[in-house]
Amino acid sequence: MTAVSLEQDGDIAIVRVDNPPVNALSAAVRTGLLEAVRTIEGNGRIEGAVLLCAGRTFMAGADVREFGKELPGPDLPTVVQAIASSPKPWLAAIHGTALGGGLEVALGCHWRVAAPDARLGLPEVKLGLIPGAGGTQLLPRIVGLERALDLVASGRQIEAAEARELDLVDALIEGDLREGAIAFLRERLAAGAIPPRAAERPVPPFDQTAVAKLAAGIRRRARGLEAPVQAAESVLAAATLPLAEGLACERATFLRLRESAQAKALRHLFFAEREAAKVPGLEAVVPREIRHVGVIGAGTMGTGIAIAFLDAGYPVTIVETSAEALARGRARIEEAYQGLVKRGRLGQAEAAARLARLEGTSEPEALAAADLVVEAVFEDMAVKSALFAHLGRILRPGAVIATNTSYLDVAALARASSRPRDFLGLHFFAPANVMRLLEVVRTDKVAPEVLATGLAVARKLGKIAVVAGNGDGFIGNRIWAFYRRQLEYLLEDGADPYTIDAAMTAYGFPMGPFAVFDLSGLDIALAQRKRRAATRPAGERYVRIPDILCELGRLGRKTGAGWYRYTDGRAEPDPAVLEVIAAERTRRGTPQQSFTAEAIQAHARAAMVNEAARVLAEGIALRPSDIDVVLVHGYGFPSWRGGPLFEADTIGLDRVLADVVAMAAVGGVGSEPAPLLVELARRGSTFGAWAGKESA
Ligand code: COA
Repeated sequence: MTAVSLEQDGDIAIVRVDNPPVNALSAAVRTGLLEAVRTIEGNGRIEGAVLLCAGRTFMAGADVREFGKELPGPDLPTVVQAIASSPKPWLAAIHGTALGGGLEVALGCHWRVAAPDARLGLPEVKLGLIPGAGGTQLLPRIVGLERALDLVASGRQIEAAEARELDLVDALIEGDLREGAIAFLRERLAAGAIPPRAAERPVPPFDQTAVAKLAAGIRRRARGLEAPVQAAESVLAAATLPLAEGLACERATFLRLRESAQAKALRHLFFAEREAAKVPGLEAVVPREIRHVGVIGAGTMGTGIAIAFLDAGYPVTIVETSAEALARGRARIEEAYQGLVKRGRLGQAEAAARLARLEGTSEPEALAAADLVVEAVFEDMAVKSALFAHLGRILRPGAVIATNTSYLDVAALARASSRPRDFLGLHFFAPANVMRLLEVVRTDKVAPEVLATGLAVARKLGKIAVVAGNGDGFIGNRIWAFYRRQLEYLLEDGADPYTIDAAMTAYGFPMGPFAVFDLSGLDIALAQRKRRAATRPAGERYVRIPDILCELGRLGRKTGAGWYRYTDGRAEPDPAVLEVIAAERTRRGTPQQSFTAEAIQAHARAAMVNEAARVLAEGIALRPSDIDVVLVHGYGFPSWRGGPLFEADTIGLDRVLADVVAMAAVGGVGSEPAPLLVELARRGSTFGAWAGKESA
């Protein structure tokens, strides 16, 4: 099979890229394209070329697997440059996704046409890079500086219709793309209407103030990520530098970033996200078909879950106990859609179509024909067990039953349903329609096709699914609870919540942990501590400060006060909290120390890595990279660090173990170094190497 083939349709050359699965611009594709340019130039009977791709998508970018290696063959700028300077006009016919290098090749062409459902973007920043083959210089020449800044620095994809509005695409082709593209090219050639290429155009005039504001926003939001800042710099340079210089600067930055620690970490995550969906034993298993979904509970979680399913095209029936609760839930969903419409993120008609798929009822019997039922009611074993017992009696045979519990024993709930083979956990993260992580919790009894159904549904919802074993808190909340406990020890020993939060946001978390505790509600953690009380190891250090805050009615954001106090929704440090902490320190007589930001960060990382090692050793997570995915996508761990275990491997497990030993000295019973971590550090090994051996 050749990656690039050439055929002729009269006076038009058809250049066809075929490099499954996503037509990445590997060395073979780059070489083939360059040869095609030369062949077409040398053929006097050819007037122009249509560039299109086989399979599911247009070229989806550089071949990520080639990064970090010596690049063979011509580089991408040479290919784009060859197309852009060819005397024969080229047209890119886009279906699927034209991303990164794929879009840059298209930008080298005279025209771009697209199927109506195509998507375009320069997602390089998500891999810690900037476009390296002209994207930052050519895009502003077509869509203007402001739009280019937004697209390049966010890495977001846009739909063909938006690309058409921006003139990034010259026409949308309904029906057969190849025929439509040839007709488009013939018509333009016949009319002699050949526009200047992007490279030949100046950057259109722009509003200096607006651009400066946009660039400042990008720098502010980068939170330690280097790529968006560099991407913005490079786009801004297009306004002042001649094209050749702009291209040279862009390439130099691209090459530097490609070797950076951040890019390596983000590449690790890219592959980790895809690996997570691959579960040993499920390769040949066919998931059950899910057409109709029931959601039980119309609170915050239930409505978020309902929206996630509506967004993915499923009809949803939501069940609540009373008409009032149902009305409140529906209002919440309508509000969410109205918000999206108001912000221009969703068309009015599409919002209406999604809402039209929603039904509400107070009768669980209405779910008798549902293919999947997701429970999101109050976090209480008795309440949930009774519900599942009822569902077990009324659902159709073969329906998949899921609980959204975040801490309860999924196997016990499965038994309550009397259908353990059909039962699994689907642990969404709030807000469920926004957060991309979904923990799919398996029990010993769940049928393989039911687990596969959970993964297939997650994919349809656009979520990143990670399979977790049925242990307390699964993967994420288990690690998070341990981390929280270790931070509370620091608090009692002399660090205040605001200093800890500042240290962790400086580390790269979008919010400090104490601000997050306020957001989730201090009562949630209190309930979890109470549940754990019975099994807590004797002699484990226990910090009472959060309990006292709860006793004072400070449950977090929802009560206007928690670790912070809230005025008009704005968090402010609260001297009253510092007084509570001081009083408790005095009562306990804990010796006080001061902590630098680095010490807090090392302690926090040690906590995450140590508990992660236990989660791994117990088989609750399948692989270290799954844990990285969970912490990044569910808990705000900075993506550019690759996740706690990737970072631990990078800095060396002996160093992390030293931090863990220090942490354990503070924590005492229950905070001991995890045997797996100790073992790997002793052998000079890594989590990555352990994963390789486990899966071998
Ligand atoms: N280079 C190499 N391999 C790639 C790739 C790339 N740029 N993009 C995707 N792949 C591989 C994936 O690793 C996966 O391989 P696997 O099946 O062995 O796990 C396979 O292609 C399918 O990718 P997946 O993401 O599962 O498919 P999808 O249909 O959900 O999404 C894309 C397709 C193209 C939208 C998505 O893969 C994507 O966004 N890719 C990255 C694009 C990018 O960042 N390009 C710029 C690079 S600088």
